Amino acid sequence: MRRFLAALLIAAVLLPAAAQADLYDSTLILVNKQNSLPQDYEPKDLSYPDVAYADFVPESRKQMREVAARALEKMFAAALEDGIELLGISGYRSYWTQHEIYYRRLEETDLEYVSQYVAMPGQSEHQTGLAMDVGSSDCPFLSTDFVLTDAYAWLNQHAHEYGYIIRYTEAGIPETGYAFEPWHIRYVGDVATELWANGMTLEAWYRQRLSGSHPVRQRRFALSAW
Ligand code: DAL
Ligand code: ZN
Repeated sequence: MRRFLAALLIAAVLLPAAAQADLYDSTLILVNKQNSLPQDYEPKDLSYPDVAYADFVPESRKQMREVAARALEKMFAAALEDGIELLGISGYRSYWTQHEIYYRRLEETDLEYVSQYVAMPGQSEHQTGLAMDVGSSDCPFLSTDFVLTDAYAWLNQHAHEYGYIIRYTEAGIPETGYAFEPWHIRYVGDVATELWANGMTLEAWYRQRLSGSHPVRQRRFALSAW
């Protein structure tokens, strides 16, 4: 009897933790100003996309989760076939890397600017391993002028075919709370085409699903936003 009770206690403690880890690993995870990742969340399947990067990119920031990395490789290769050379700039960033970036930017500039462009630690999609900042050699990196490049035009048209969305759009500002970042792409899988075709943010997609029949586990995570 005592052994049974001990097993029950262990299951009660361990199961929710396992379910949570699984939840954070969803490729549809919603990470934003209302939904944070834990400090210690680190994807288990980080890998190095075999693509071209800007010269200064440290190895650790080249990483992405397996599924996103393979899709990125296919997308960069397809772009190259169309004469567009995309460059990776920033992929996975740990909680503490984001912490360093956020507070350094705060020292350099004001909170209003920082809150439009830099996520607080725990609130960055880069911690999921599903986001990559991209650029092209004909434009300064991480500049809104990227929107004027052929590389952006190509991405805007084709990224969804590889499961990616441009996450922070001009139209999405009221929903995401971030300025237009034409360089930040996020892997969401098959849903990308639906989001792209409807010009929808991930926030709007979740909101729509919450009144529908979205899986309960995702609901629990997303519900904290509304
Ligand atoms: N630039 C995006 C919002 C980030 O820091 O994750
Ligand atoms: Zn980014």
